[in-house]
Amino acid sequence: MVTPQQRDWVRREVTGMYLRNRQQGHAAWAKRDYDFVCPSTGTYPFQWLWDSCFHAVVLSHLDIGRARSELESLLANQQSDGFLGHVTFWQREKFEEIIKTYGIAFRTPYLSDCIQPPVFAEALDAIDRRGGGDAYLKQMLPRVSAAYDWLDRMRDPDQDGLIAVVQADETGLDHSVKWDELFQVKAVTLEEFQKAWDRVAKPYDAYGRDHAKMFASDHFIVEDVMVNSIYGLNLQLLAALHGKAGDAANQKKYQAMADRTFQALLKKCWHEGDGLFYDLAGHTAEKHLRHDTFTALMPLVFPQLPKDKAARLIARLEDPKKYAARYPVPTVAMDHPRFEPGISGTKLVWRGPSWMNSNWYLARGLKAHGRADLAQRITDASVELVQKSGFREYYNPLTGEGHGAEDFSWTGLVLDLVEG
Ligand code: GLC
Repeated sequence: MVTPQQRDWVRREVTGMYLRNRQQGHAAWAKRDYDFVCPSTGTYPFQWLWDSCFHAVVLSHLDIGRARSELESLLANQQSDGFLGHVTFWQREKFEEIIKTYGIAFRTPYLSDCIQPPVFAEALDAIDRRGGGDAYLKQMLPRVSAAYDWLDRMRDPDQDGLIAVVQADETGLDHSVKWDELFQVKAVTLEEFQKAWDRVAKPYDAYGRDHAKMFASDHFIVEDVMVNSIYGLNLQLLAALHGKAGDAANQKKYQAMADRTFQALLKKCWHEGDGLFYDLAGHTAEKHLRHDTFTALMPLVFPQLPKDKAARLIARLEDPKKYAARYPVPTVAMDHPRFEPGISGTKLVWRGPSWMNSNWYLARGLKAHGRADLAQRITDASVELVQKSGFREYYNPLTGEGHGAEDFSWTGLVLDLVEG
């Protein structure tokens, strides 16, 4: 159990980190002020999409005005067709050196041309629940909805309810073990992953990242289970928010979209033999990527997930050979042949360590399925991790050692976990 002292400590520490990582100023290129929390001042000083949504959730506990500004800054550069880029380089002039180290596809010098997991409805929902106000809700709903409409139109060409990524970093899970075969990496090194990134994404530039051509080329078309669990969950929340705002037509529309996504996950991604949900690779092939990683457990976030399936996923989380580590939840099953608990290669991420956003989703899923006890274990371990090793980007699930960026903002989601 988290003690009141621990709770206060978490609140104080997160408040301090969110002051240190706050970026405020005026962007001449956008003719606009910005105010957001960057993921980490040392490595990621810009506004990242899913990070920023997590930050808005955390800020909703600390300062509702800042939570509102966080989401407003994120949506400020939404394109007229609804597209939202995964990074906004508000103050790029200050950090040209850092940009040289990124492999990112640019739409403009200030906006990336990729997506990231669409967490915007969850951000808006958190702000609304903690006093964002009806006027703010009504002002943001059309813009947030347009972002989901864009995904539906542009990223779901077969209209099965599952959206596709066209390169790995669009999932937010850049170097996950589940991409190794698709990427044909010969070794687990950053160089190999960079070469793979070039093979996948470089050809897109030649045809101006035109969607029809990207899908037709079929270099890396993946319907990812985590991305689509987040998509479906967010569509459900979006429907409810429209209902709250008195818009029954949009409530119905987004609920139908949410139902379709959920059904497609059940029908296409569930593997009865293995008892896991697998990503689909290939524009038309839709081949299961058979890897035991935390994303295969993500449909737990749906309260309506059938009990038998939920029970099989939960059994994995309780299995000491797979996910029940000393410091859960490892992002790759510990008996996966390529599981690595600490830093893998140089700067490779999502190959085993525990992260706070995955803990946050899985704990919520467990609660939704009557396992508040197990959710509490994850929360307790998460608090232990930040007390022991600070607010790091990720942690060794066996030892609790922290790795990656320091003062990493979305690790502040531990505050939402302790606030329950
Ligand atoms: C890394 C993560 C990605 C995150 C970004 C900024 O690239 O893999 O998910 O959005 O850092 O924190």
